[in-house]
Order: sequence, then structure tokens, then C-alpha cells
Amino acid sequence: MTAPVRVAVLISGRGSNMQSLASHQGEDYVIALVASDKPDAAGLAWAREQGLPVFAADAKALGKAAFEAALDDALREAGVERIALAGYMRLVSDGFVARWRDRIVNIHPSLLPKYKGLDTHARAIAAGDRTAGCTVHLVTEELDGGAILGQAEVPVEPGDTPDTLAARVLEAEHRLYPAVLKEFVRR
Ligand code: GAR
Repeated sequence: MTAPVRVAVLISGRGSNMQSLASHQGEDYVIALVASDKPDAAGLAWAREQGLPVFAADAKALGKAAFEAALDDALREAGVERIALAGYMRLVSDGFVARWRDRIVNIHPSLLPKYKGLDTHARAIAAGDRTAGCTVHLVTEELDGGAILGQAEVPVEPGDTPDTLAARVLEAEHRLYPAVLKEFVRR
């Protein structure tokens, strides 16, 4: 049997997708590192409580190049093989993408290629969409533009606000991401 693939989860905030990924680790993958561009990201407290290795630095204060160099060192020290962005709200540089080519995935709260970028739920509601959802995709130099690895759909209900729709999509994210990551680490 081959060893589980060592995955880093990158977060900027609450980290509910990180929790879902962590709760599904096992034979396929293990969380070798939780990393954040924000030392005060709420999800870091949970990660530390779980005993997960944590790297956190203030990307804004350090500047992008220095932050990514430190992150890269931490990833390599932790023996990381794949990277899962989970509510990581900072653009990764082209150089970083190149160093980790085809080994970074992201979860995005829309049915890509619709609604790249921010405010996805408000845009889906404003457009009158009947379905919304989430996408796990490869990270390339193009924002939210890499190959789609998996999607999950949810209905947009009458009277939905961006918050109520976000909550429904988030539940779908928590199911989709671990399932797609398990497939991805076997590639
Ligand atoms: C999730 O909905 C994720 O899809 C989205 O941020 C939320 C993070 O929640 N990501 C993006 O918008 C990326 N551009 P979480 O911190 O609870 O996982």
C-alpha cells in the first residue's frame, strides 16, 4: 500500500472547508500543514487544537514575494506533495503556480466558468439563476480558470439572499471537496 499523499490546506478565514478536508483524511491523504496568509485567521485556532502543523505569516506586512518564499520553505519542510486552497483569498503568483504546477487545487463558490472572482452568490441571484453551486479546479495563472475536477449543484430558492445561498452552497462544498481531493491525490 502506498503512503497517504501529504496535503497542505491554505486558508485565510474561518476554515470550514479545511475542517471538512481534515475530517476525511486517512488512507488517501493526510493534512501535513495548514497555512495562512493571515496570522489571525479564525480557522487556525481549530487547526492548532487538532494538533495539525500550522504555518502563518502576515502576507500583507511581508509582501507577496517574501511571504511566498517563506510559505514555500514551510511546504517543503513539511514534505507537502499537493496544495488545497480552502477560502484562501490571496492570488498566488505565477512563479508559485509554476513551482507547484498541476499540484494546486481550489474550491470556488460558483458553477465555473460562471462567476469567477468575488460576490458569486449575489451575482447568481441577480442573474435569476435557478441553480448555483461550487467547483473544485486546478489552479493555473488564470484566476478561477484551471481545469474543472468536480462540481456540485444546489437550487437557488425563491427569497434567497447571498447569505442563505452561501450557506446552502457551503454544505455542498464540504461534501464535494474531500471527494474530489481523494481522486486528485491518486493522479
Ligand atoms: C468558501 O465558500 C469558498 O468556496 C470561498 O470562500 C469560502 C471559505 O469558507 N472561496 C473563495 O471565494 C475563493 N475565491 P471556509 O473558510 O469556511 O472554508
